[in-house]
Amino acid sequence: MKNKRTVLVTGGCGFIGANFIRMLHSDCQDWRVVNLDKLTYAGNLKNLDGIREGERYRFVRGDICDAELVAKLFVEERIDTVVHFAAESHVDRSITGPGAFIRTNIEGTFTLLEAAKKAWLGGNKSVTQPCFLHVSTDEVYGSLGETGRFNETTAYDPRSPYSASKASSDHLASAYFHTYGLPVRITNCSNNYGPYQFPEKLIPLVFNNAMHNKALPVYGDGKNVRDWLFVRDHCEAIVEVLQKGRDGQCYNIGGNNEKENLEVVTLICDLLDQKLGLAPSGQPRRSLITFVTDRLGHDRRYAIDATKIREQLGWEPKATFEKGMEETVDWYLANRKWVDAIVNGSYRQYYAAMYSEQE
Ligand code: NAD
Ligand code: DAU
Repeated sequence: MKNKRTVLVTGGCGFIGANFIRMLHSDCQDWRVVNLDKLTYAGNLKNLDGIREGERYRFVRGDICDAELVAKLFVEERIDTVVHFAAESHVDRSITGPGAFIRTNIEGTFTLLEAAKKAWLGGNKSVTQPCFLHVSTDEVYGSLGETGRFNETTAYDPRSPYSASKASSDHLASAYFHTYGLPVRITNCSNNYGPYQFPEKLIPLVFNNAMHNKALPVYGDGKNVRDWLFVRDHCEAIVEVLQKGRDGQCYNIGGNNEKENLEVVTLICDLLDQKLGLAPSGQPRRSLITFVTDRLGHDRRYAIDATKIREQLGWEPKATFEKGMEETVDWYLANRKWVDAIVNGSYRQYYAAMYSEQE
């Protein structure tokens, strides 16, 4: 087992990346983190408030497609571990504008793999036991019917531009292992929820709309199923894969929490009613639920079979959906300013003042 590491976290200012860096900061005290993030609309420096630049942490604003910058970081920081989160992550945006997904998710992953290959397998090998962990999604497996679950041998069948771009990046990562022997591990996880999720995704979007007595848009008949994974459980699984996983392997990570979207939305409404009383209209917040036109190509059901990671690495999700959701709603209630600032765009101005805008 390896104690000291220098970890390049890509996309560390996004939802999962920020939770991951926060966890490393408290639990892995002898690891140094270099956070490479472009600060797109989804990246937010506020997600890392309280984590200071210094011996254990460095932030670099930059693009994973910038080959020169990435190569320089590998050398300068003697990176021995990569945890690659950076991506365009929102399915709806991939339907209206797939170009950025192709660039960041495919070309960006290629750029990182090339830099790792050069730094770790080139003539001048300066690090021991390197590891490139590519964070991916269950969406690469396509859509399930009423039964069955995805395991690591399920054939890929991506159906949105987002999932196709992630599938492509998984294949590239896997090819670098098989062709060059790059020490790659891949994780495919289900829908995460928890603190710091950008309020375009279902759970924080419903929270925010409900707080403003706005309609809660439910796509189609609301019966699409997702397997919800509490973000802290996901981050712990990633550390297990780094510490105990094997190169060239894929690990599915799921929450054992299959829910129809309508159940998720009503649970948020009910939690808010319990905590705050009924909406100002005097109605339960469920009355705000509005069925809207379905997402194009909307995958019906995802479900993860996480037997492999449980049996081989001893990881299991700890959070029940009820407990995880209560903690999540409490976090959003306590951090309304964080949500409001994103929704009214004021963080953008804050970054513009600190860094030059690259978009
Ligand atoms: P997010 O959208 O919240 O964050 C993405 C981060 O990547 C942002 O900080 C953004 O600024 C950064 N980024 C985007 N393009 C970049 C580029 N070209 N160069 C550098 N940085 C860039 O995403 P998330 O929900 O935290 O997801 C993280 C990873 O996990 C993604 O790879 C996603 O595909 C995967 N994933 C997410 C979920 C989920 O439920 N959120 C589930 C399965 C897998
Ligand atoms: O399964 C893992 C994936 O989960 C990740 O790879 C993606 O990065 C992440 O965004 C997430 O994708 P989804 O499309 O499942 O998440 P989203 O929160 O957008 O939607 C969850 C479900 O809720 C989905 O069935 C669509 C539905 N939905 C979503 C929104 C935003 C609604 O009904 N109304 C909405 O307003």
